[in-house]
Amino acid sequence: MEVYSTDGYTSLSQLADHELALPVTEKSNPLTRDIDRADPEHIVHLLKVCDAEIFQGDGERLSNKQTLYSNSLGQTLVRLTRKVEDILKDPEDSLIVISGCGTSGRLAYLLATSLNGLLKEMGKEQIYSYIIAGGDKALLTSQESIEDNPQQGAEGLKKVCEGKKRVLYVGISCGLSAPFVAGQLDFCMNNVDIFTPAVIGFNPENMARNEPIPGWPLTFRQVIARMEELQKRNKAFIINPVVGPEAISGSSRLKGGSTTKIILETIFLSAHEAVSSHKKITVEDIMDRIKMYEQVYKVTYSQSEMIASLVHQAGESLKKGGHVYYVGWSTLGIMGIIDASECIPTFGADAEDICGFINRGYSEMKNKEGDLREFGPEFCISHMDFVSNILPTATELDMVIFLFTQDDHLCEIETLVSQTKERTSNLHAISHDLPAGSDSNILNKTQFASVVNITWPTVNCAHKKARQELSTKWILNAISTGGHILKGKIFCNYMLDLKVTNSKLFKRAINILQKFTGCLQTVCKRALLQAIYDTEEITDVTVAAEVTTHTLMAATRSRVVPTALVILTRNCSLLEAKSQLEAHLLIRDAVVACLPFSHGQTGQSTTTDKGICNLIV
Ligand code: F6P
Repeated sequence: MEVYSTDGYTSLSQLADHELALPVTEKSNPLTRDIDRADPEHIVHLLKVCDAEIFQGDGERLSNKQTLYSNSLGQTLVRLTRKVEDILKDPEDSLIVISGCGTSGRLAYLLATSLNGLLKEMGKEQIYSYIIAGGDKALLTSQESIEDNPQQGAEGLKKVCEGKKRVLYVGISCGLSAPFVAGQLDFCMNNVDIFTPAVIGFNPENMARNEPIPGWPLTFRQVIARMEELQKRNKAFIINPVVGPEAISGSSRLKGGSTTKIILETIFLSAHEAVSSHKKITVEDIMDRIKMYEQVYKVTYSQSEMIASLVHQAGESLKKGGHVYYVGWSTLGIMGIIDASECIPTFGADAEDICGFINRGYSEMKNKEGDLREFGPEFCISHMDFVSNILPTATELDMVIFLFTQDDHLCEIETLVSQTKERTSNLHAISHDLPAGSDSNILNKTQFASVVNITWPTVNCAHKKARQELSTKWILNAISTGGHILKGKIFCNYMLDLKVTNSKLFKRAINILQKFTGCLQTVCKRALLQAIYDTEEITDVTVAAEVTTHTLMAATRSRVVPTALVILTRNCSLLEAKSQLEAHLLIRDAVVACLPFSHGQTGQSTTTDKGICNLIV
């Protein structure tokens, strides 16, 4: 079905092949193609059906695809759990390092600090450590260029493990793509007498990223191939169930993040339990734990109506220039901070649009580098900072969401509620395990505008926290994703105005341009470079430069992908494209106005005055 074969354009069938060849984590999810036009209820419904894919049944036999419930994955998790058990039983000179970039690194931090907390309570040696690309600053703000650096990854790991005789390394890269993690995995494989590498990601091995990494001899896929060999001898572990494409294409903070948390907790909490109860963990135990998380999913989304009302409210605040503030206690405060930090790279949000705060700030965070406030206002994260920096100028437009559980300091919460209510009645709560009905209950006394309170069956403390955290993550992801959709930041299920700050994002930008314009990759790249370098003429030297050169420049520019999109679809100059975009405040409006098709004509090709635009979303 060749629609246009003249130089510069590709055919519909080639575009379809192109989409098929994309790794699962970069594909557009067919379930959410119209999420940009959904109302809050429907947004939450779409996120719910998309998250349901995390728990899809064992597809191995039918599609050769490993899922969370696959027996083979269960066996790998059991073997890895045993490695953790060995270290827990004999921790001397040993370390377990969890590492990743962006959200993956933030979850590595959360898990490592929580697990160390558990060991400390039991009077045991704290054997967990975390690495996040870009250091602790990246816990709160995006530091995406370091993700491209395998050498820095390896050096960081070497440093953390100095003097250790046995290290279990768990690298997380949802897309099996981050060079930073590839460098660490490779370092482990070059030192197998000390290191055992494990990798977590959500693509099949053959979809691990295969582009050359500048200044490094291997691709991520080659690293994985080497791990496959070691895995046969139980010296490496590849954990890569397929959980389907993200609700917002490529936004691995969503399902990728949730599944990472489920897998890490399943491994580590099972190992802790095995050691304390002298029990041998089986595949059935692993599956039971995953079923428990599926229950968390069901219970959380049983509150869809209330979640939708929070999404609506967040959308109203963001649309009118207000803010969303998450004010959390303990690890729920961390969940808020993580969700907020992701909005800047995911939606091109301003740092102050959605912010997270945690009681006692960095002493509650227990991050390695301690107090980071010297780096600027976005690093002021304690409740005291909230009271002194935010409340004085807060208005009814600002939405404040308290995140807490029955185990938190309820008096402290009441006091902060009173202080906040003096500024805004737009105050909401996401709480866990607060007994309903009693007059003394903080939820009754303080009259939040809305409350999502979830009650969980009684279990031990670590499991309780794990449920509360994941459930809160799902709700906050819905609020921030839904709020930005309502603000017009998403087109179909793509974040078009992404920041092109590393090689993965550069590739994603070109994929998006190809998909929406039908132009050849080389043509899309030239238009993107025009927008990045702010020039009408792109030289061959610039085209041939390293991706890093482009991404460093792109970090200083705004609206590069939308600009390139208009250049391509209108076949116009850079100047014209920029002025077309400037006429619109919101990217979605700009794109709808500039593209030569109206939304809803999916699957159709439309003739424009300058060429043909293929839209096969
Ligand atoms: O490059 C930015 C980013 O996509 C973040 O949004 C994400 O959390 C991070 O990369 C890590 O991605 P991955 O886990 O696939 O390596």
